[in-house]
Amino acid sequence: MQRRRLLRLGFDLLLLLPVAAAAAMVARQRSLGPSGPRTLRIPLPARGSASFAEQAIASDPGDGVQALSSRCPHLGCRVDRLEGGELVCPCHGSRFALDGSLRRGPARDGLQRLAAQADPDGTSISIRIDA
Ligand code: FES
Repeated sequence: MQRRRLLRLGFDLLLLLPVAAAAAMVARQRSLGPSGPRTLRIPLPARGSASFAEQAIASDPGDGVQALSSRCPHLGCRVDRLEGGELVCPCHGSRFALDGSLRRGPARDGLQRLAAQADPDGTSISIRIDA
């Protein structure tokens, strides 16, 4: 009798495995957040400067603020700093003008421009990030 109950318990646990796996997948999907385009707000940079966020850069080369992808077109590192008026990739040293155009490789292209619009409060810019 004891053995029969033990076998039954093991069988019941086996039946629960797919349910537990499905619940874990749903929890993981929720922790990743929604997919698709989202909007990122970055403080407006001063003229001749830039503001950096994880996936985007707001820069003002002097003729207005624009939004650029922070993903380096060389191998995808995050362009994360401004040196001597140029945006710099920390991985292999590619340099870009504040308008995103290429100044020095190894990258062969400039930074991708992103859709953006100034926020009504006048202190930040909203940038569309495609997933
Ligand atoms: S990834 Fe930016 S220069 Fe190589």
